[in-house]
Amino acid sequence: MARRTSDSLAPVPSAASAAPEADGQGPRHVAIIMDGNGRWATMRGRPRLFGHHAGARRVREIVESCPDLGVKYLTIFAFSTENWKRTQVEVAGLMSLFRRYIIRESRQLRDEGVRVRFIGDRVRLDPKLVVLMDELEQMTSQNDLVHLTIALNYGGRDEVARATKRLAQDVARGVLNPDDVDEETLPKYLDTCVLPDPDLVIRTSGEARISNFLLWQSAYAEYEFVDTLWPDFTRAEFACLLSSYGTRDRRFGAVKA
Ligand code: IPE
Ligand code: IPE
Ligand code: MG
Repeated sequence: MARRTSDSLAPVPSAASAAPEADGQGPRHVAIIMDGNGRWATMRGRPRLFGHHAGARRVREIVESCPDLGVKYLTIFAFSTENWKRTQVEVAGLMSLFRRYIIRESRQLRDEGVRVRFIGDRVRLDPKLVVLMDELEQMTSQNDLVHLTIALNYGGRDEVARATKRLAQDVARGVLNPDDVDEETLPKYLDTCVLPDPDLVIRTSGEARISNFLLWQSAYAEYEFVDTLWPDFTRAEFACLLSSYGTRDRRFGAVKA
């Protein structure tokens, strides 16, 4: 696992020059743990929600950069199953931010060819938010330029537990033979069943942990941990990380001939 400081990224190449798709070496699926909004706000003497709003604005620049940078799938961690432990004010503020984000961004995402999906457990979410999520998925369902997946009330363990429950129900109904349960079958029950596994997982804010993100899917992902707080994360830094991914030797347990 690589840990980078802002210093190690200098000189930051222009996004275009770092575009990894030129040699086909870039990651097809990038997953981002967008962390550090709260600290970004606190450093400015502002409430944590101020940081979340700044963080939400960052998402646009990163999504827009994906086609040029050769990223077909972008998955972003917006709210974890553990984030309910925060104050009621922060949780309510985040839920209202998600609602407003969807309302504000829907049309542009559709017109830019972005296909949006949500992963995570919708049961605990406000039904009005779930309606907006369903509508956004529906209105972008014909798009194929970039596949943006937003993890909202998502936890990797929760996802595997929910998948196992549905799998067990299929066994009980006689639809699935227990002997057929293997590494190919189980992921079909995950929220990410239509997505490829992430090639690269990026976490901002200097924390070097996964925090329950894409546990099954990231088994062989490459990782980048950067010190930058999410509201400061730029397209140029994104491009730089994608470029450095091209130098990784992914062996998947094998030995090169
Ligand atoms: C990430 O930023 C966004 C969410 C978890 C919703 P944080 O809110 O975790 O920011 P820090 O880590 O406290 O700085
Ligand atoms: C992970 O960040 C979740 C999101 C970015 C949405 P957290 O800030 O919740 O993770 P911990 O608590 O530092 O592990
Ligand atoms: Mg955090």
